[in-house]
Amino acid sequence: MGYLGEARTLWAVVKADAYGHGAVETVNALLPTGVSCFIVASLSEAIELRGAVREVSFRLMTLYPPATPQEWRAAAEYAIESVIDSPRAYEQARAVASSLNRPLPVHLEIDTGMSRLGLTPEEIELFLRVFCPDAPLEWRSVFTHFACAESDPEFTQEQLRQFLQIVTRLQACGFPHTPLSAAASAGVLTAPDSLLDGARIGLLLYGIAPAGQEAHPLCQRLQPVLRWRARVVSVRTIPKGRSVSYGAWFRAERPTRVATLGVGYADGYPIGLTNLAPVALHGKLVPQIGRVCMDMVMVDATDLPTVQVGDIATLIGRDGAAEVRVETLARLLHTTPHEITTRLGRRVGR
Ligand SMILES: Cc1ncc(COP(=O)(O)O)c(C=O)c1O
Repeated sequence: MGYLGEARTLWAVVKADAYGHGAVETVNALLPTGVSCFIVASLSEAIELRGAVREVSFRLMTLYPPATPQEWRAAAEYAIESVIDSPRAYEQARAVASSLNRPLPVHLEIDTGMSRLGLTPEEIELFLRVFCPDAPLEWRSVFTHFACAESDPEFTQEQLRQFLQIVTRLQACGFPHTPLSAAASAGVLTAPDSLLDGARIGLLLYGIAPAGQEAHPLCQRLQPVLRWRARVVSVRTIPKGRSVSYGAWFRAERPTRVATLGVGYADGYPIGLTNLAPVALHGKLVPQIGRVCMDMVMVDATDLPTVQVGDIATLIGRDGAAEVRVETLARLLHTTPHEITTRLGRRVGR
């Protein structure tokens, strides 16, 4: 929050169960720190969160625009702030607000390069033709979303330029002056001029660096929130030449002490990490070996002769001097850190 400054709003992105960390736990942890604005993707996520968190005074926004008048009414009932992303959504919101006889809190999304949600530059004039300044809608922000903030500064600056130009056009036609936002985690780091009136932050909130940003001074100070551990459920020594797990994708090149961990792809540990990932055990990094199974993962514990059943291995997080970062696993898998943490399964305690 200090980085953003007092005047800017931090929208904490807690969709997909707070990127797998537990949305209720995350919101409950953040509320006492002064964070009071939260974002989820869907209406059902928002309604669930409203029901599960006792504190009622927080602001909650969904990224999907409501699809039907019923969804607009449900959003109103649960004090959920919705996105308007098309002239059609605008007209629907207006009609529902008039029928409820109360203003609906809404955000306008502008598409400047993602081509997934938001008014396209080509739709702006159409929107302005149907826009009515007196409609019972309470505009809470106008925002856009960057496509390449971690990798392409020019693209990002062009998106920002286009966004501000569209905002100027909207305001010239009577659209109210509202807070503006563009940056998510990567934008916060790479495009400080895009901080505007606030940022929507997911990854950084969980202490995870966006791809390629590990060396950024802010990321050097990050403390990962997530620690994922699993118990050793069996230990055996196999002779040289014997294989491990389905498909025999690993064959021992020496007598090997195999520790089997009680975790698997059903818990979100990707099969793609087979024979690739480091796992921390007894304060050291050891290699994962053999194909990842649904409920079990094997590691080579030959160099840890005292490992025994009941010991705790760390799949993500720190164990003494050894640390496994989500960013490292994401690089090994050629994916984003988001994908790894959001796939944490229901069996994994939060
Ligand atoms: C519209 C929007 N804003 C903000 C975020 C947060 O992104 P990050 O986790 O990279 O901070 C997302 C994430 O997908 C998003 O879709």
